[in-house]
Amino acid sequence: MNTPQAGIFALGTSSHAYLEFDILHPAQRREFVSTLSSVREPRTTTGGVNFVIGFRPELWREVAPEDAPADVEGFNRPIQGKDGFSMPATQHDALLWLSGSAYDVLFDMARSVIKDLASEASLGDETSSWPYRHDRDLTGFIDGSENPMLLDAPQVALFPEGVRGQGGSVLLLQKWSHKVAEWEALPVAEQERVMGRTKLDSVELENKPADSHVARTDQDELGKIFRRNMPYGTVSDHGTMFVGFSADQKRLSRMLESMAGLLNGTRDALTRFTQPVTGSYYFVPSVESLLRFR
Ligand code: HEM
Repeated sequence: MNTPQAGIFALGTSSHAYLEFDILHPAQRREFVSTLSSVREPRTTTGGVNFVIGFRPELWREVAPEDAPADVEGFNRPIQGKDGFSMPATQHDALLWLSGSAYDVLFDMARSVIKDLASEASLGDETSSWPYRHDRDLTGFIDGSENPMLLDAPQVALFPEGVRGQGGSVLLLQKWSHKVAEWEALPVAEQERVMGRTKLDSVELENKPADSHVARTDQDELGKIFRRNMPYGTVSDHGTMFVGFSADQKRLSRMLESMAGLLNGTRDALTRFTQPVTGSYYFVPSVESLLRFR
């Protein structure tokens, strides 16, 4: 099987930057893919940078049809959920996700990539993120308890050998702004019913409500995904950068529909306390696929 991009599985880094780009000249998309595929990290044995490169699925299909999985699509339409809840579609042409042990190295690398791409693409969106209390998201809950372990994650996240796009993955990048005052006004026992897990130690509730977040995203029902979520934002405006990989886009899109209340009429209680403000899908090609564009 082709080699996956290493950054997908590079857990434990404390600084992240997500750069989303829009092509300036659509006719020159091949050159743009080639420039982005030529990004390299600083050569060092310490303090290095991991990166993940992804492309709008339709764009990747245009430049590498033999290497693009069937049926993968961008986040092209907003999702209209129950009771006026909606998830916006803010698709861009490409993503560069940098991660490392300190923000200064990411900052320098991000600036140099943006400069190298300046004649071909504009920076459409930029977010940086950082871990909170080791493994918690900014709701205060432990995030990732039901994630596959690293030895199982490739099977969950990667297109398998023998299919187009093998070694690649579908990435959903969705920024969720937290309604902090409303969330913090809830007693902890209520917050736990919203999540479906205990706050201190992330034990799944025995009788979790049908509208709890873990009931609405139950992987036994909807299929498994590999999450790399991180907190983002400032003291006064913050939330969760949802970063989810899957070998099957349907698992991700059905989870979003389920959270919005479109699968069985029950909307995820967490969506009353957080609001998505962006939403994009990217195809993350294998290393071999990227090297063809070098
Ligand atoms: C504000 C946004 C979000 C926050 C704060 C959040 C937080 C959490 C937390 C605390 C858990 C329980 C522990 C764990 O297993 O990780 C969880 C579970 C999970 N979340 Fe989220 N999440 C968010 C958005 C999403 C979205 C958008 C998706 C899917 C597209 C998703 C998919 C999942 C899945 C699959 C699980 C595990 C469910 C299971 O038990 O099988 N989450 N999330």
